Amino acid sequence: MSKIKFFSGEHIPLEMHKVRIVQKLNLPTIDERLNAMREAGNNTFLLNNRDVFMDMLTDSGVNAMSDNQLAAMMVADDSYAGSETFTRLHNKLKEIFDMEYFLPTHQGRASENIISQVYVKPGTIVPMNFHFTTSMAHINVNGGTIAELLIDEGTKVNSDHPFKGNMDIDKLKEVIRTNGREKIAFVRMEAGTNLIGGQPFSLQNLKDVKKVCDENDIMLVLDASLLGDNLYFIKKREAQCKSMSIREITKELVAQCDILYFSGRKLGSARGGGICTSSQKLYNEMRELITLYEGFLTYGGMSVREMEALAVGLEETMDEDVINQGPEFISFMTDELVKKGVPVVTPAGGLGCHLNAMEFVDHIPQNQYPAGALAAALYIVSGARGMERGSMSEQRNPDGTEVYASMELVRLAVPRRVFTMSQLKYVIDRIEWLYANRDLIGGLKFVQEPKTLRFFFGRLKPVSDWQNRLVAKFKEDFGDSL
Ligand code: F0G
Repeated sequence: MSKIKFFSGEHIPLEMHKVRIVQKLNLPTIDERLNAMREAGNNTFLLNNRDVFMDMLTDSGVNAMSDNQLAAMMVADDSYAGSETFTRLHNKLKEIFDMEYFLPTHQGRASENIISQVYVKPGTIVPMNFHFTTSMAHINVNGGTIAELLIDEGTKVNSDHPFKGNMDIDKLKEVIRTNGREKIAFVRMEAGTNLIGGQPFSLQNLKDVKKVCDENDIMLVLDASLLGDNLYFIKKREAQCKSMSIREITKELVAQCDILYFSGRKLGSARGGGICTSSQKLYNEMRELITLYEGFLTYGGMSVREMEALAVGLEETMDEDVINQGPEFISFMTDELVKKGVPVVTPAGGLGCHLNAMEFVDHIPQNQYPAGALAAALYIVSGARGMERGSMSEQRNPDGTEVYASMELVRLAVPRRVFTMSQLKYVIDRIEWLYANRDLIGGLKFVQEPKTLRFFFGRLKPVSDWQNRLVAKFKEDFGDSL
């Protein structure tokens, strides 16, 4: 990919795979899309996939599998206890992470449930570089709170900092000093920090965090769901890691952590999850909850087929030509949008390209959910569905007031190995048009608002008839085109 130079001088990410299985897509007309958005309560989570042309909601569980992953699924060993499949997966994890123990779970948040139930006590604090929705919800449910200790640069939408996911070490020391180490349940570091735009931390930063944890006898927990992207960025951007292999970087990174957990829907391009540790004590503390919530210790709610695919997917994560595909496509999309003046998060991270709604629709106040409104508008004009990552994804204060997110983003995930270059160019084109017509986009308000994780099933409506005006302008400019 990035190793290939084009005669024309263009920077085009080159796929190091070929497509052998395809799925037909449907691009509904703009009227059908408007209707589908209305029926979905202006919430992209509630759209039916048959109405979606490019599903850019997430990279979770929708990455393209390799031929070797599919082949491995055929030789899975089905048994409740002690299956060969589990042994194969466990051995692969041991080989890659150098951690002896593995607790399988059905997905990432199930791992968060177990870790939080065991280690978060009422009144405790979990310092972290940045929260993820489900990780924070599990900590809160168990009576804990979080302390977000990202470096200041991390929440700047536009920056040239190579590691915006780094933790501020001074802030970490301060939180421990003011609260006392006994109040700290554990420190959590999220690889490929999701909610700030898939931004990585550096290996050096993780080592610095580990040093403070060790000095205070605090456990360090790694959320490795987006580790693949983070590994790519470390290799590419961290000077002292340039000559290390992905495997070596992985080992050194994991060696800093007491517990590692992951969503296999992202890491390993399959479906499932798990918790790894080198400590028998920690393993014993968590394992009973696996059998209570997930399943027996040798499948933990995963199908054996998915476990086989995960084992192969983890091996493929150690291949630079595999893990660079996502970030390179995202970087292409981000750079093209920057050239057209569209506000996006920079530098490009992993996971997806992130539109900066705060600037894109700066006329929409935060209490009318600019990122949610932009996601709805983009679906209507393109059939691409992104995800709101702003105030709608926050939870109200106990007194009912809104918590305003520090960033209002529309995440356009680029699932690994799924889209072609022309599809990416199509969505870039529609975003450019939408940006030129941004004044037509209006806000949203809730008509049904769940108390927890409201962004999943909340329903909203436009504050005016802006969507009709947007559709009319689209028809004027594009005529019969979809
Ligand atoms: N941690 C991170 C960093 C994640 O991105 C996710 C999921 C989880 C934990 C939870 O894992 O979904 O398997 O239970 N992120 C998905 C997303 C939902 O769309 O970004 P899960």
